[in-house]
Amino acid sequence: MKKELVFSGVQPTGNLHLGNYLGALKNFVSLQKSKSCLYCVVDLHAITTFQNPKELNSNILETTAGFLASGLDSNKSIIFNQSSVSGHAELAWILNCVCRVGWLNRMTQFKDKAGKNRDNASLGLYAYPVLMAADILLYHADKVPVGDDQKQHLELTRDIAHKFNTDYNHEYFKLPDPIINKDAPRIMSLRDANNKMSKSDVSKYSRILLTDSNDEISTKISKAKSDSLKMPSSSDELSERPEINNLITIYSSISNIDKDSVINLFCDKEISFFKSELKDIVISLVEPISSNINEIKSDISFLKTTLEDGAMQATERARKTIDEVNKLMGFSID
Ligand code: TYM
Repeated sequence: MKKELVFSGVQPTGNLHLGNYLGALKNFVSLQKSKSCLYCVVDLHAITTFQNPKELNSNILETTAGFLASGLDSNKSIIFNQSSVSGHAELAWILNCVCRVGWLNRMTQFKDKAGKNRDNASLGLYAYPVLMAADILLYHADKVPVGDDQKQHLELTRDIAHKFNTDYNHEYFKLPDPIINKDAPRIMSLRDANNKMSKSDVSKYSRILLTDSNDEISTKISKAKSDSLKMPSSSDELSERPEINNLITIYSSISNIDKDSVINLFCDKEISFFKSELKDIVISLVEPISSNINEIKSDISFLKTTLEDGAMQATERARKTIDEVNKLMGFSID
């Protein structure tokens, strides 16, 4: 039987953090064992907000190093950067003409990112989810591992695929399904549990980076916002204690112990005791990844070859879709 196809992407806009790892990368790594996987450094998405070209270039390599250091293997998965496969931009234009403005107006991520400065946001930021749909549909992906924050974009991808199929050919695009890690769908900021952990948060204490030293991890966890109570004795308390809920989620996801068992383990203990155990477990995850990143990052020619090989394989697949779509659209003259 043909293996299911998996596609996902990560923006090269800074260092990868624990939210990226627990929400997405961890699944990327386990899926490559049984599925046919493409993992993309989505540099065309990154430029929807201004990127300094030098920094973008080094962030593409850094994100690729983060992929490999977390366990992705270029012999098992196709690893490449988006701008090196022209099919992404080509299909995105066609899908821009399929997607309805009303659908994009509902996208909450655009509202969050553009904020009050909507008129000054780039057109690319507004059309961002259509490029994401193109990424996924270009390879006819069955499954898309993402964090919970991307769920709405996946629903839009299905709507676009469905409309394309209705307009041009009923069976052409598959409707992809998200894979969301149910134990860590959305890791929240360590400073404010109402916001997700993110690369763009102004406070560096809000996130743990995969490149953080052990001391940095310890400090960030010590400073993580919590409350003055003891550790909860039941999961009923978690809805009223979002910061503790987030820390327990992190502990549970890294240790692969379900949240109820973590609650039992620390029931009525001091938060400081829990935090010191959490530090150990986060360090045990991040320390080897961080040292792998440093080692891999120093071998630029290896990183370049990995991306070039990946782009060649991805281009071959993408070309087939673009040729078929061109035919369906009436572009290719037979
Ligand atoms: P990006 O670069 O913001 O994040 C990469 C992946 O990490 C997940 N993630 C999180 N998961 C849990 N908790 C968090 N705090 C957290 N922060 C980030 C994201 O959900 C994502 O899975 N639009 C995408 C990139 C993209 C893409 C695609 C993804 C472009 N094309 C096609 C899948 C398929 C994004 O900005 O991810």
